Amino acid sequence: MTTTVDLAALERELLADVDKAADLGALDAVRVAALGKKGRVSELMAKLGSLPADERKAFGASVNAVKTKVSDALDTRKIDLEKSALAARLANERSDVTLPVRPGPESLGRIHPVSQVLDEVIEIFADMGFKVAEGPDIETDEMNFGKLNIPAEHPARQEHDTFYFNPKPDGSRLLLRTHTSPVQIRTMVKQKPPIRIIAPGRVYRCDSDQTHTPMFHQIEGLVIDETTHMGHLKWVLEEMCKAFFEVDAVTMRFRSSHFPFTEPSMEIDIDKGALGKPGEWLEIGGCGMVHPNVLRNCGLDPEKYQGFAFGMGLDRMAMLKYGIPDLRPFFGGDLRWLRHYGFSILDQPTLGGGLSS
Ligand code: PHE
Repeated sequence: MTTTVDLAALERELLADVDKAADLGALDAVRVAALGKKGRVSELMAKLGSLPADERKAFGASVNAVKTKVSDALDTRKIDLEKSALAARLANERSDVTLPVRPGPESLGRIHPVSQVLDEVIEIFADMGFKVAEGPDIETDEMNFGKLNIPAEHPARQEHDTFYFNPKPDGSRLLLRTHTSPVQIRTMVKQKPPIRIIAPGRVYRCDSDQTHTPMFHQIEGLVIDETTHMGHLKWVLEEMCKAFFEVDAVTMRFRSSHFPFTEPSMEIDIDKGALGKPGEWLEIGGCGMVHPNVLRNCGLDPEKYQGFAFGMGLDRMAMLKYGIPDLRPFFGGDLRWLRHYGFSILDQPTLGGGLSS
């Protein structure tokens, strides 16, 4: 029977299979089919025992020769395939480390002008030794009005177009704060002078047109100690405006006014000359010396302590500095507006590096 096996043909066939194997997986399949336990060469080997003794030796040697050839061919082919697999990976997984960096979210995102102006103003006041204080948007009547020397039925309450919540069973009503001045009270009741704070935040009034929105931003300032006077107030506001508008001088005027929580009270106007429009005045906020009643309401002795407060509109300051004509789109959420008027998040305002560079 053995003599009927054409070893030469088997060898050709197996070597051809080795050549044809396109990848390492296919090559392994060829190896198993030829040399594996049930492979064609192995099966011939297993039959050796059943051969007559005189044929066994010669046939065994021939089968072994086939086995060696196929096995060598498998080894060579394996090295070739491994090489080309590596070459393919190297070509495929190549990355060009000299390519420019693709812009990430940090260069696409924009800082809203109000946030930018807030960062700028905080930087300026921090440099003058002010700390940032905060208070809630939902306030009590007492904090927003009462403690600020605005009793019930005071006409100033009508001017504020207040958003009220429904009255509680005891008759008291919560409201959306109409100004940041309640943070003055919150600060003075918990901290003894000297006090030097700014309090930025959202405020709400039932009002809406090109320069008024129902929610807008104010920044409150409060300085209380034993000697602070109006001269200090004027100096602080002037320094703030020069730094904010990034100019060497600003012309300001204080217009006599009335707020129940300050005495005397003034409105702060700045001449738009520094912004290229001389002779035009723009009101940016109110200020004055803290009223003795307010100090008393907070448990401070007005014979001992005195100081000033001011409140300015942040959105107004942003409109003025960055030439934004309409207030309403500030809160419209239109990305095109934000891309146009917004600031790069990588440019942090610093006094040393420039506020708005
Ligand atoms: N709270 C005042 C307003 O909203 C501004 C102000 C603050 C005036 C502090 C004087 C002192 O109009």
